[in-house]
Formats: sequence, C-alpha cells, structure tokens
Amino acid sequence: MADALQNRRILLIISGGIAAYKSLELIRRLRDHGASVRAVLTEAGSKFVTPLTLATLTGDKVYTDLFDLTDTAAIGHIELSRDADLVVVAPASADILAKMSAGLGGDLATTLLLATDKPVLVAPAMNVRMWTHRATQRNVEQLMADGIHFVGPNDGDMACGEFGPGRMAEPAEILAAITQHFSENEFSGAKPLAGVHVLVTSGPTHEPIDPVRYLANRSSGKQGHAIATALARMGANVTLVSGPTNLTAPAGVTLKRVETARDMLAACQAALPAQVVICAAAVADWRVDVDATQKIKKEAGAATPSLTLVENPDILATISKLKTNRPDLVIGFAAETEKVIEHAIAKRLRKGCDWIVANDVSPETGVMGGDLNTVHLISADGQEDWPLLPKQAVAERLARSVLTYIQNKKSKA
Ligand code: C5P
Repeated sequence: MADALQNRRILLIISGGIAAYKSLELIRRLRDHGASVRAVLTEAGSKFVTPLTLATLTGDKVYTDLFDLTDTAAIGHIELSRDADLVVVAPASADILAKMSAGLGGDLATTLLLATDKPVLVAPAMNVRMWTHRATQRNVEQLMADGIHFVGPNDGDMACGEFGPGRMAEPAEILAAITQHFSENEFSGAKPLAGVHVLVTSGPTHEPIDPVRYLANRSSGKQGHAIATALARMGANVTLVSGPTNLTAPAGVTLKRVETARDMLAACQAALPAQVVICAAAVADWRVDVDATQKIKKEAGAATPSLTLVENPDILATISKLKTNRPDLVIGFAAETEKVIEHAIAKRLRKGCDWIVANDVSPETGVMGGDLNTVHLISADGQEDWPLLPKQAVAERLARSVLTYIQNKKSKA
C-alpha cells in the first residue's frame, strides 16, 4: 500500500514548550515517510529549539516571527498556509491555543492559523494545571467546535516534576494521527462512516408534575451532543434524540427534541433501525403517576400535595433486548462514584448492551459539572482505561472505536 504521507506537505508550527525537542524527531519521521516539512517557529519556541536545527532537519528555510520582508511581505503568510496539505501545531502551548480560540493574529504563527483554510491538527503540551484550567478547557472546547483536530495530550511524568495530563503525544502518535487522517481522508472530506445510521440520545428528560412544574436532573447534554458531532463529522447519518438542553443543534445531525422519557423512547423507536445506538441521555428513572392537567394550587389550609412516582421505560435496555432489527452495536453510559468498573460490568450485563462507557464521577475527579471526563470502555472483551480528556476528545475517541468496530465487522463478513 502506498504511504499515505508520500508527497504530503506539512506546515509544522512549533510554539514554546520543552516538548519542542520531540518535534525534531517528528520532522525526521515525516520526511522518512516521504512528506515535506516546513517549519514555523514562534518566539517562545525559539527558546527551546534553534532555527538552524530546524533548517537542517527540514532541508528548508525556517520561518520565524521576526519581521522579515521576504517572508511576510504582501500575502506571504497566506501563501505559506496555502502551500500546505495540513497544518500541525506541535507543541501547542496553552498560549497558542488561547490565541487560536480567540482568533488573535499578533505574530506569524497565529496570523497563519487565522488565514489558513487547511485542516489543522494540534498536539497540546503544557503543565497539568494549565491543561485542566477552566480557561484552557474552554479554549479546547471552542477549537474542537471550530473543527480543529487534537492528538493527545497524554498522562505521565512531566518535565516540571508533576504527573497528569498535559504531556505532548509522542512523535509516533502524532505521526499515526497524521497518517490516519490522510489515509482516511478524514480531514479532506472523505467520510469513513458514510452510510452508517447512528442513533444517539442526549440530555436530561423533564417529567411533568403539572403544566408548569417538572422533575429533572442536571445533565447538560454536552457529552451526548459531542458524540453526535464527532460521528457526523466522520460521515455517519446521525439521529440525535435529545431532552431539553441549552446547546445548539450540532451541524449535519437530524435532531429530535423531546421532553419526557416516554417521548424519548417513542422518538428512538421511530428512528430505528440503526446500526449503532449510543444512549448518553440521563433519562429520569421515575415520573409522576398522574400529570395534572391544571396547575396544582397552593390553597390556604389544604394539605401539602404528595407525588407518587412510577418507573420510566429503560430505553437502553429496551433497544438492547430487541428481538428483531437489533442494532449491531448498542452502547450505554454509566456514571458511578465508587466501584466504577464492577458496577459498570454488572450494568452492561443487566441492560444487555454491548459496550458501557463508565464515567468516574467521584468528587475528586472534578468530572461532575466540568468539561473533562475520565472514562473506561467496558465490553465483553475487557476494559480500556482512557486518560482524563475533554468531553469532545472522549466523543472523538468513542467515534473512532465505533469506526474500528464497523471496519472489523466488515472485514470478517
Ligand atoms: O441505570 P442507569 O440510569 O445508571 O443507566 C445508565 C444508562 O442507561 C445510560 O446509557 C442511559 O442513557 C440509559 N438509560 C436509558 N433509559 C432509562 C435509564 C437509563 O436509556 N430509563
């Protein structure tokens, strides 16, 4: 098979970070695979690697932030990005992610990122506290919504002596991400999940008490919507059945808005058949047995009303146990605060689904209400432990796992 990197033109932006030394190895590996690399070095990046080293390794001129008429005159920065098949930012510091997210263009690297119409892959590298900071996570979320692709960061020992997520992905992993994107053409529009119908549930449900009151939960719908977005970007035909959220409808997705668990089940049944079903909604376990047609009044002297609850249908279990037209792959979620794996394994069997994405929501993880998630993917084959990741990154990784499942199934057929 031809090397997917052969003759590809990579524009590599190196921002400030100790991980910059790993980008030197990345350049060598890219060139070994037949790609050409042009390097742009930010001022902070030049504190870690020199233009001379980069020029030697790329075999090309190195573009720096220094004002240089021959580089940046007229539309020089636009030409630089037009000339590339892919822009890679490695290492991507918290600072450059923030500038990209805000659309700032104060130097050559950021101007170029603002002017490019080419796909952009970033490999973040920073201290764990900087990575988990609310501001960085907000920026990451924005960049993902803008279509920027991420590889890493990884968990591990850091140069600053701390441990946690923030370590730049290894050169081999960045190379693999670049190769995968070129071979699947994911960046340039080919759709590896084209023709696959995926049904995703998301958000909370609202269970009415009377015409103005309801029972609900705190689900934001962020994880489910991110999953629908990631799958749609890979070309899947996605039906998203969502309870009430503040989120905008993801692009390229058929959205069915519902209120109650019963509505959600009916909308899911109407959307079937689907090859893959992912139940990420936080469905209310109970509803009020009678839903009053008039507002319940607070009458002076009257007894405080009491609510009798009845169980809601279990959508995940209903779909998992379908006798006809059962989807090939049914995935449920489990939020657990203790014995995460043990409870998730039991839930997978009880509900009859194929995979369970177990969220560790114990208070020390900070997952509850946040944008980061630590998950374990449980299947009949065992478990995968994923590092602490933004919910969008969890979504992309899950979408890739779904793709691998479908490809393996096809190759066995
Ligand atoms: O039983 P528990 O609510 O913990 O199970 C969580 C999983 O089951 C999630 O995937 C959720 O979407 C799904 N679920 C469902 N219908 C329900 C309750 C949960 O689809 N009534």
